[in-house]
Amino acid sequence: MRVAAYERYGPPEVVAVSERPEPVPGEGQVRVRVHAAVVGSSDSAARSGTPWFARLAFGLRAPKRHVLGSEFAGVVDAVGPGVTRFAVGDRAFGATGIDLGAHAEHVLVAESGAVVRLPDEVGMADAAAICDGALTALPFLRDAGHVRPGDRVLVNGASGSVGAAAVQLAKHLGAEVTAVCGPTHVELIGRLGADRVIDYTREDFTQARGEYDVIFDAVGKSTFRRCRRALLAGGSFLTTVPSWAIMFQQLTSKLGSRRAVIMFTGLRKDAEKLPDLEELGTLAAAGGLRPPIERVLPLEQIAAGHRIVDCGHKGGSVVVTMAPAEHRAGPSRPAASGRMTEPAS
Ligand SMILES: NC(=O)c1ccc[n+]([C@@H]2O[C@H](COP(=O)([O-])OP(=O)(O)OC[C@H]3O[C@@H](n4cnc5c(N)ncnc54)[C@H](OP(=O)(O)O)[C@@H]3O)[C@@H](O)[C@H]2O)c1
Repeated sequence: MRVAAYERYGPPEVVAVSERPEPVPGEGQVRVRVHAAVVGSSDSAARSGTPWFARLAFGLRAPKRHVLGSEFAGVVDAVGPGVTRFAVGDRAFGATGIDLGAHAEHVLVAESGAVVRLPDEVGMADAAAICDGALTALPFLRDAGHVRPGDRVLVNGASGSVGAAAVQLAKHLGAEVTAVCGPTHVELIGRLGADRVIDYTREDFTQARGEYDVIFDAVGKSTFRRCRRALLAGGSFLTTVPSWAIMFQQLTSKLGSRRAVIMFTGLRKDAEKLPDLEELGTLAAAGGLRPPIERVLPLEQIAAGHRIVDCGHKGGSVVVTMAPAEHRAGPSRPAASGRMTEPAS
């Protein structure tokens, strides 16, 4: 099978396509023929070995795992002994977490892992992109922000994969949503249903006073200190990006009237992610969740995908597709509209 592999930390070009033996599912394992997988921020961190704490997870001097990719969608094409939740031919999507391995034509997952059936209505690229953004945004909003109908929620970095999911999920939870992004993405975010869009080059949302129940900084470009006064009493500042400051503030803010929270999707148990994947698949099938997709690229162009992610200005997710060349519409899909319309398979 073809995989995108790397042997040393470095720029996008350290990742190259090579051949590996097809994996054979063992006891309790499911083999998925991957149709689409995300190249995301965590792949960029694992590839480059930066920031430094990425190496605690991926290997201090050199990468411990050589095939990146966590979020995937595809079709089960083999099952190991004892598997009962899946059968050959099932459409499936999920996330391998720190085990990675999804930038390949086949990935092995434990049937007890973070993998569920994919509704027929949801395309493969969309499904992989949902695991990229919504699987993180949902627990942030629901479990850390306790977002309720009528809450006022601001999402900073609303055009990223986590932010775009957060805008749609906050609306789904009944919130009034203000979305912050750069000038090139204002229209895209408006289409996602935000009640108000702020272009960060024209307005500084942190100058607001007592306006929001939740500020979700999905790209970690602000700080609790800067956002504090824009929160209502009892409000929460949520961020996806770790720093010493936020770790400290998470502890100390429990004593104050406004909370600071950081969470890590990678540290959540698979058993916690399973119901979330089911819920997100159902929501997407009903048309309530539509992840924007910046670009769909064939596996061979994965280095270009890494370059887009490294720029820090993608609109939604970057997806690689493993479909054989004869099944592709073209070498790449510039999906400015953010929609993937490949047939269900
Ligand atoms: N804690 C966790 O469990 C967890 C899980 C997933 C991801 N993450 C982290 O979350 C972060 C976001 O991930 P992602 O994949 O959603 O990121 P992303 O897609 O790479 O985010 C890119 C977006 O950030 C926006 N942006 C850039 N500068 C900005 C600024 N100054 N103000 C507001 N928006 C700005 C860009 O918007 P414009 O182009 O419009 O400027 C772009 O759309 C990453 O650092 C990732 O490592 C953490």
